[in-house]
Amino acid sequence: MDESLKKYLQRTSKSRAIYERAESVLPGGVSHGIRFFPPYPFYVNSGKGSRIWDVDGNEYVDYWMGHLALILGHNHPVVVDAVRQQLEDGVHWGAAHPDEVELAELILGTVPCAEAVRFCNTGAEATMYAVRLARGYTGRSVILKAEGGWHGFCTDLLVAVHGPFDRPESLGLPSYLGKEVATFGFNDVEGAVEAIRKARDLAGVIVEPVLGAGGSIPADKEFLQALREETARKDALLIFDEIITGFRLSVGGAQEYFGIRPDLAALGKILGGGLPVGAVVGSQESMELANPVGPGREGQRVSIGGGTFSGNPISMAAGLAAVRYLAGNKEGYERIGRMGERVRKELSAVFTDHGLAVACTGLESMFQAHFLREEGASIRNARDVHFNTDHRRRKEEFKLRLANEGVYTMHGGGALSMAHTEEDMKQTLEALEKVARDMGRKRR
Ligand SMILES: Cc1ncc(COP(=O)(O)O)c(C=O)c1O
Repeated sequence: MDESLKKYLQRTSKSRAIYERAESVLPGGVSHGIRFFPPYPFYVNSGKGSRIWDVDGNEYVDYWMGHLALILGHNHPVVVDAVRQQLEDGVHWGAAHPDEVELAELILGTVPCAEAVRFCNTGAEATMYAVRLARGYTGRSVILKAEGGWHGFCTDLLVAVHGPFDRPESLGLPSYLGKEVATFGFNDVEGAVEAIRKARDLAGVIVEPVLGAGGSIPADKEFLQALREETARKDALLIFDEIITGFRLSVGGAQEYFGIRPDLAALGKILGGGLPVGAVVGSQESMELANPVGPGREGQRVSIGGGTFSGNPISMAAGLAAVRYLAGNKEGYERIGRMGERVRKELSAVFTDHGLAVACTGLESMFQAHFLREEGASIRNARDVHFNTDHRRRKEEFKLRLANEGVYTMHGGGALSMAHTEEDMKQTLEALEKVARDMGRKRR
């Protein structure tokens, strides 16, 4: 048996016992497909700051940070206090309440394209709403998306997410997807412009300003600019999926960072302070179609306002605390951006030193390692990740070995939070050095 696997099995006997139970009650033993990794995931029972602990008592510097929702770290006191107070006042009312108004006002004050907000509970709902709104507003039906773009399990966007990008993403998808959703290459200005110009009945274009699950790959500004200009020319809507980049690249998200204003944006993750949330935001004119009030509305509305728990008091309280804190501590972004740059540089350098070609992508606080099939291969889109890297075998090995060294990653990387310290950085760089040495030695 491989020594890293042996070490993992030795460290995680309680997790293994839970996994054996979990397998028969949860498909794959997990509640989200990507949380499984071979031979079985460790099961977590607490988190604080930059760290999590598993049921065997192992401690990890965490770079997955609750699917990147926890930019303030685990259990940040401002969020915990707000949630505690809210628990006393009420868990769930299913009624309008002041905090949702205040959080919406805060979003309007920070996110450039937000003139109105509709809250929901997940990012997938937010992208579903954004697509429906684009179709309802324009009266058209075709949506264009980037290859490798992951917008949650929103049915209408489950197209060309995983390489080689020509197979159905799931059983059970409706056949209209093939006609109504088309794709272009990420960072391919010419291809995207051509796709937009050629598209008939184009309602909108949706794109992640930094391709997240597709490889932590930042868009070139010119690419986003081209999408902005071409969609405007066709009177179609530009939608930024800012579920990862919102409140992460800056408090105003990628649209503030790149200085490009979309028509609509989908938000989630950080916006909930660690509690479930989603939101679609955009121009007053388009969002007004969600207004249920007023005469003649029947048949003239876009239905984007359901959800038993939409705007639920606990998520709103946690989100308010987190976003207020971020708006008042903007210098935190510079710090985690510098740390991200350091991790990206050192990660590729240390693997190169040990004879393995690794490129590290990302932007500001985000980073992701790619094990290249050939030295010097560039990683500018999801196609490059699929065809130019050993994205499966090597990444799994990288993850397991880093876990054995007390560092938790996802997809070959993750993101820094404001709770990460110099001590975490030191431990991470030492772990990377050891993992690179072991993986390099094994290859020889
Ligand atoms: C860019 C992007 N969009 C949408 C989603 C879906 O969000 P949720 O998991 O909250 O449904 C995700 C989730 O990881 C995401 O990364």
